[in-house]
Amino acid sequence: MTKKIIDHSRRGFIKKLSGSALLAVASPTGITEAVTIKDKKIQILKRRSSVPANDRIAIAAIGLGIMGFGNLKAALLDEGVELVGGADCYDGHLQKIKELYGAHIKTTRHDEEILGDPSVDAVIISTPDHWHARQALAAMQKGKAVYCEKPLVHKIEEGDALIQMHRKTKIPFQVGSQWASSIVMQKAKELYEAGAIGRLNFVEVYTDRFDAKGAWQYSVPPDASTDTCDWNTFQGGATDLPFDPIRFFRWRNYKAYGTGMAGDLFVHLFTRLHTITSAKGPNRIYATGGLNYWKDGRDVPDLMLGLFDYPETSTHPAFNLSLRVNFVDGSGGGDSMRLVGNEGEMVLEGNRVTIRNKQLPKAPGYGGWDTFGTFPKKIQEEFIAVYDQQYKDSKQTVIPVGETIFEAPKGYDMRVDHFDNWFQAIRTGTTAVEGPEFAMRTAGPALAANISQQEKRIVEWDPEGIKPLQTV
Ligand SMILES: NC(=O)c1ccc[n+]([C@@H]2O[C@H](COP(=O)([O-])OP(=O)(O)OC[C@H]3O[C@@H](n4cnc5c(N)ncnc54)[C@H](O)[C@@H]3O)[C@@H](O)[C@H]2O)c1
Repeated sequence: MTKKIIDHSRRGFIKKLSGSALLAVASPTGITEAVTIKDKKIQILKRRSSVPANDRIAIAAIGLGIMGFGNLKAALLDEGVELVGGADCYDGHLQKIKELYGAHIKTTRHDEEILGDPSVDAVIISTPDHWHARQALAAMQKGKAVYCEKPLVHKIEEGDALIQMHRKTKIPFQVGSQWASSIVMQKAKELYEAGAIGRLNFVEVYTDRFDAKGAWQYSVPPDASTDTCDWNTFQGGATDLPFDPIRFFRWRNYKAYGTGMAGDLFVHLFTRLHTITSAKGPNRIYATGGLNYWKDGRDVPDLMLGLFDYPETSTHPAFNLSLRVNFVDGSGGGDSMRLVGNEGEMVLEGNRVTIRNKQLPKAPGYGGWDTFGTFPKKIQEEFIAVYDQQYKDSKQTVIPVGETIFEAPKGYDMRVDHFDNWFQAIRTGTTAVEGPEFAMRTAGPALAANISQQEKRIVEWDPEGIKPLQTV
């Protein structure tokens, strides 16, 4: 069956540039009021919601580590949102939530107490990866709206139950790869669809780092012990090892809890790509990597490379994707995404998207590193006569067409927009931008890349069915 592909031509792009694509990126909704919370230490500036906040949404956090607190900070900027409780396995984090948001916050070591509390409307799950699917499923069963950190699952097989439960309950569900709501990604999508780079053929993305914290060697609190840490709950059956504060606070370094570089970082890279191109995923995956430097007992690589073949769909031509994460980048690290088409490139760095265009001239050129110089003089003259006749109106060199840059406002935080999108879904009954299906299209290929790296084989992937074609 022949599929119709979006007309990605520079001509189409220029036509559209004269309209909305040239307009500046819209600013996020402004901060409108300061709200005081009882016993609080933080003054929360409330952001006006994009839909009227006539009601109150009571939220609770499950998992109060780095991201748990980061998520609360962003979520509580939205008007009408109130924090009522938090669950965590380390007592220090339960103290911290009261320290930040007030002694009235209900705290517990057990997520069931949060999920069973009828006063809680919505939960934010920011636990280690091996807990996501279980807690998200239980929360949907209890009728709570769910914000769950990426990757949605620890194992590919966990995805189907979440997708089915979401289809059945239609619970407002957002997965925490915040790029999906970024105004920069939305602009990139608009540019891509307008044909800004012509026909896409290649995408390369890298996230490189060069520091201990960036390589997941997070600080361990001096009071970590079996008294202050609920090791059994944290483990959730993952292993039967005795308490180990390093595994507890640096769980990303162990396959039993985390999903390695692919689950942690490839997922964000897929989210960006799929948001821009509306891609459903690759059909062939090959990854390699190794543990080169951070040999601290971890059982995951510190360098990973992935190659992904995307088949043609109605939203993009067939193209190839290369992903890289390197935690031993002696040059200092960096982060960049580049989409390459036959008429230009789109580069995403920080909160900015840049389009650069070049056009191939009609004339192929001759001379220089070419067979022309090897022809006898008479043949060269004959060649030039024919060439000049054929290409008399065309330049010989690649034509630079221009550079267009779009940037988000200073201090822009896409996580705030991501939460706003979820609160909109809760308030209006619409679907959040990053539900379980979208999230499995990013987590699935990332976890399949882990399988490929570990088993040294290509994984054939079914992007429609969101599952591997081979038995895994
Ligand atoms: N979206 C992003 O940009 C982003 C950034 C960082 C982390 N994350 C994701 O957030 C999640 C958490 O990462 P982190 O860096 O905050 O880890 P963290 O170790 O700092 O926090 C995890 C917390 O979960 C708690 N916990 C463990 N099991 C629990 C359970 N069963 N019930 C309740 N609490 C439990 C731990 O005690 C810990 O405090 C991960 O899945 C990670 O991939 C996302």
